[in-house]
Amino acid sequence: MSTVHVFGAAGFAGAQLAALIDAHPTFDLGQITARSDAGKPLAEVAPQYRVARELAAPDADAVREGDLAAVCYPHAEAAPLVAALLDRGARVVDVSADHRLHDPELYPSVYGFPHPRPELLAEAVYGLPELHRDAIRDARLVANPGCFPAAALLALLPVLGEARDVVIDAKTGVSGAGRGASSEVHFSTVTESVSPYKVYEHRHAPEIEQELGAPVTFTAHLVPVDRGLLATCYALFDGAPDDAALRERYRDYYADHPFVEVVAAPPGMRAVQRTNYAQVYPALDPRGGRITTFGVLDNLMKGAASGAVQNLNLMAGRPETEGLLAA
Ligand SMILES: NC(=O)c1ccc[n+]([C@@H]2O[C@H](COP(=O)([O-])OP(=O)(O)OC[C@H]3O[C@@H](n4cnc5c(N)ncnc54)[C@H](OP(=O)(O)O)[C@@H]3O)[C@@H](O)[C@H]2O)c1
Repeated sequence: MSTVHVFGAAGFAGAQLAALIDAHPTFDLGQITARSDAGKPLAEVAPQYRVARELAAPDADAVREGDLAAVCYPHAEAAPLVAALLDRGARVVDVSADHRLHDPELYPSVYGFPHPRPELLAEAVYGLPELHRDAIRDARLVANPGCFPAAALLALLPVLGEARDVVIDAKTGVSGAGRGASSEVHFSTVTESVSPYKVYEHRHAPEIEQELGAPVTFTAHLVPVDRGLLATCYALFDGAPDDAALRERYRDYYADHPFVEVVAAPPGMRAVQRTNYAQVYPALDPRGGRITTFGVLDNLMKGAASGAVQNLNLMAGRPETEGLLAA
């Protein structure tokens, strides 16, 4: 039995993650932490998960060597805790963006802070099992992907290195913004509308570019749903003679990846909500030379919490699917 501590468990991603660990057949839920909600049962803060355990103030010193931990803090707040946990001998999945970018120089411009432990960026493994599964198994520090990058990369991995001039048009549900209230995510702002945001300045673009190894044009849109994220990707591509061959390439790529389903029609969010599954669908322009690929997932699950559990399973030497197939 491995103990898994969840830091930031009152937040959207952290509460979902604590619930998954609580129900996991071989992980023990360690501390689940919060600041203002410390002392309350998680079930009071996030009643949908029915986790009776009480939230407590974070205590990194109570983490033992060999424990696993997941950090679900906002970016810049996670990095110091992640370093402290590693220094105590824990292995960590950072659900925030603080260890996703390998290049420390990007942190001030993209995230607005100088990275406090740049050497950890060289060590961190980007936590997309469909790309880095073997490295995740042995990692001390796994950087869980952002939700947009996870969907876009899954839609593009089978054509990695061959797709050119990639354009990603992505839509996310409002839970992607976390539990904090703001006018941008107010019900009255979001309902019955679709809004693009952070055009040419979204923080997930450099992350996608790092993993794809190529520049992309990325635009995010907010849509009036709670959970779900759809990435529609357009690219120049000459590597498949017809639709059937392109789909075969996708099926081959994902044959050994239990949580990515290559589906027979463009996928919608409903098929993956509250699951660790992602669905992908590639289509070839009948005129040739161009593809449109789709990736859809639940931003709080495969895009955050259950994706983190998939990584924790690999790190602990457990079956990758453990505790996730029913979710
Ligand atoms: N939402 C998503 O779909 C999604 C997807 C992928 C990745 N992520 C990443 O996951 C992380 C958490 O996102 P979220 O959506 O769950 O955000 P959230 O709902 O705002 O939760 C963040 C939690 O972090 C805690 N926190 C805030 N500032 C802190 C600080 N200075 N020190 C300690 N704890 C602090 C808060 O706990 P207290 O209330 O106790 O202060 C809060 O509950 C972020 O880095 C986000 O980028 C989110």
